[in-house]
Amino acid sequence: MKPPHPRTRHHLPKRTVSIIGTGSYVPERILTNAELEKSVDTSDQWIVTRTGIKERRIAEKDEHTSDLAAKAALAAIENAGIDANEIDLILVATVTPDMFFPSTACFVQSKIGAKKAACFDVSAACSGFLYALEIAQQFITSHTYNTILVIGADKLSSIVDWKDRNTCVLFGDGAGAAILRHRGGGHGVIATHMGSNGDLSDILYIPGGGCRFPIAADNLDQRLNAIKMNGKETYKQAVNAMLNAANTVLEESGLNYDDLACIIPHQANLRIIEAIADRMEVPLERFMVNLDRFGNTSAAAVAIALDEAHRTGRMKVGDYVLLVVFGGGLTWASSVIQW
Ligand code: ACO
Repeated sequence: MKPPHPRTRHHLPKRTVSIIGTGSYVPERILTNAELEKSVDTSDQWIVTRTGIKERRIAEKDEHTSDLAAKAALAAIENAGIDANEIDLILVATVTPDMFFPSTACFVQSKIGAKKAACFDVSAACSGFLYALEIAQQFITSHTYNTILVIGADKLSSIVDWKDRNTCVLFGDGAGAAILRHRGGGHGVIATHMGSNGDLSDILYIPGGGCRFPIAADNLDQRLNAIKMNGKETYKQAVNAMLNAANTVLEESGLNYDDLACIIPHQANLRIIEAIADRMEVPLERFMVNLDRFGNTSAAAVAIALDEAHRTGRMKVGDYVLLVVFGGGLTWASSVIQW
């Protein structure tokens, strides 16, 4: 008798992918605007009116990105009610890895005891968490993996030029995590859109530390290992890219802004969020905003905001949620999820 035709992945039905748990962690130490006034020529009033940021969290010297990530991961694992050994893949989105290699995801694996997981990092700056979410969704949809831990984690205090008032007031440290799995019931990620523009890499970047400007005394003297940013251009690009990304993913989902219970944007600047809210004609109250307390935590920002929105009941089962991000690269991404 002829053996049955093997079921290839191609023949398996497409699965919807859900976030079954979230978690986050921010360091205990709070750095206020008043403290920054003592180290650079700035003021609480300037920072609040231009950015909306009141304070940010700063990790200890011996508290690394993988430590922040592991704490967020453990919170997400508990929230999902799973065992770490059920995780098939760990993705860490970060621009501040503990080391060039091993990946920060490998360090997280060791810290949380997820012995069966494969691990790698994702580099897409502040957009990294949504890029990683989409990678995870593809792995689950293709039936390659069942349970994936996605983390956005950054220790930006380690790459900020603390003498540059243009940038040092903006950033903070933290991590957010989500557990993804096929849950059935039709709810989950509906559509995701990602984009990049490498022609504008020089408006927001860290030139030093890689092979182009390696760690060497003259490069360090020029502070090439710290964030460089053209603030005005970044602002302009961020508003346009986030708006376009949001419109694109909504169109792909067959939804409009009135259908959304909650919008979770990248937490870079309140004025950027107000500008997109205005153009979307969506009241600001429907946006999840926590940058006043944490500043811009890069890849962690939208992940921390997602966890906070989840834990504070901002979305109920069945609600539509839009996540939209922007970062260096340039990169941008958006995702619509039915909660
Ligand atoms: N305190 C006081 N004055 C300051 C400070 C500060 N911390 N920083 C800049 N200034 C001064 C400038 O030197 C300038 O002075 P000058 O007129 O004498 O030259 C003046 O304030 C105005 O500067 P602008 O750049 O015009 O200020 P702007 O209103 O554009 O706000 C800001 C600056 C907040 C950086 C804004 O451009 C912005 O938010 N851009 C986007 C930044 C961002 O989102 N980055 C990250 C996104 S992606 C990612 O997350 C990695």
